[in-house]
Amino acid sequence: MSVTTASLKLGDKSVELPVKTGTIGPAVVDIGKLYSQTGVFTYDPGFSSTASTESKITYIDGDEGILLYRGYPIEQLAERGDFLESCYLLLYGELPTAAQKADFDYLVTRHTMVHDQMSRFFNGFRRDAHPMSIMVACVGALAAFYHDSIDINDPRQREIASVRMIAKMPTLAAMAFKYSIGQPFVYPKNDLAYAANFLRMCFGVPAEDYKVNPVLAHALDRIFILHADHEQNASTSTVRLAGSSGANPFACIAAGIACLWGPAHGGANEAALKMLGEIGTVDNIPKYIARAKDKNDSFRLMGFGHRVYKHYDPRAKLMQKTAHDVLNELGLKDDPLLAVALELERIALHDEYFIEKKLYPNIDFYSGITLKAMGFPTDMFTVLFAVARTVGWIAQWKEMIVDPAQKIGRPRQLYTGSPRRDYKPMADR
Ligand code: SDX
Repeated sequence: MSVTTASLKLGDKSVELPVKTGTIGPAVVDIGKLYSQTGVFTYDPGFSSTASTESKITYIDGDEGILLYRGYPIEQLAERGDFLESCYLLLYGELPTAAQKADFDYLVTRHTMVHDQMSRFFNGFRRDAHPMSIMVACVGALAAFYHDSIDINDPRQREIASVRMIAKMPTLAAMAFKYSIGQPFVYPKNDLAYAANFLRMCFGVPAEDYKVNPVLAHALDRIFILHADHEQNASTSTVRLAGSSGANPFACIAAGIACLWGPAHGGANEAALKMLGEIGTVDNIPKYIARAKDKNDSFRLMGFGHRVYKHYDPRAKLMQKTAHDVLNELGLKDDPLLAVALELERIALHDEYFIEKKLYPNIDFYSGITLKAMGFPTDMFTVLFAVARTVGWIAQWKEMIVDPAQKIGRPRQLYTGSPRRDYKPMADR
């Protein structure tokens, strides 16, 4: 029998709180009326036990290492479909028919160009600006160009803005990369698929034709699928909170990019590769494992651990396979960083500390090795994460906008500061 209420006893008060159950996963205690009935708040700074919303998009079972996009296992989507198919699924809730897929591919492909005046922003940046800083700026600035798709109450405008975001992120990301290496921007080509188009915009040059390596294009397409959405992670929650105030979609995605940049979140792939480089050789691994376990050392194994996954991140297994595919294709299967990563994983998975704290490799552990082998500099890794996650941010933002329960997000607090006191004249301080 499903529980329908929870009783909370608070001193001489006792309240009954409704319990809601979902399709799968933990039930929730609806505390919406707790404050009005008891005068107290709940307290959960990292939201470890707090559901911020109801959603139908993505489901994670952290104990079983399960990730579903609209009910479909990530392993099946990554092995059998392409990124734009997963985009369609995340946005509209069902796998597309052949005709729907062809229409969606056509639509996204023909929105990949950005307003040519966008290129003038880049001249304002230093060449060594971190590309994530450029992405935050340029994505937010899209609102200055697309006035016909910023009215969040118009479903048609929401639709246009969604397609524009998904389509233009790779173009802006490639422009940020080209600017950092002093090469001219390469325009998108409509006869190339999404990942192939991005590779050509990044690595093509006007001086010669660029031949897309199908193994690398397929690997990058799979990497995009693996990063597309992940429930209410920090950057998605940022997008939802920004959107709850009625901000336009470009501003909300820019906020999500800013949050993703952090090394505890999307910045971990860049940090993980730097960590592997710092470890350098397999012999140095025990020293770094000891540092990760040392309470007095702030060092953490980047690419390990997760707020939800207390078992292997299913994406990490697929990322490891992708890493092997790419390194084999490029003749780099003896990459010393891969040897360090594989040995570090082997040791950590047998170490009492990591077992007890349920720390497993996450998606960021192998992505850095793969992207570096493909020719991307480390400061572009989180940019690629943002390109892929844009569809997840947009799908969650659209769901929030039409949710009848949604209202501006405004958490309360536990105040532990000074009680009221009167102003003290300077002479008395
Ligand atoms: C992503 O939320 C998402 O879904 C995110 C993401 C997505 O797709 O959107 O999956 C993408 O962000 C993946 C995570 C990438 N981050 C990293 O790889 C950075 C390294 N990992 C950690 O910083 C940490 O594991 C977090 C931030 C990912 C999770 O932190 P939690 O859940 O808040 O756990 P915690 O920090 O409270 O750690 C629990 C314990 C602590 O020890 P105690 O205080 O209990 O003694 O585990 C330890 C931590 O010290 N610990 C680690 C560790 N991660 C946690 N010790 C060593 N190395 C680590 N990596």
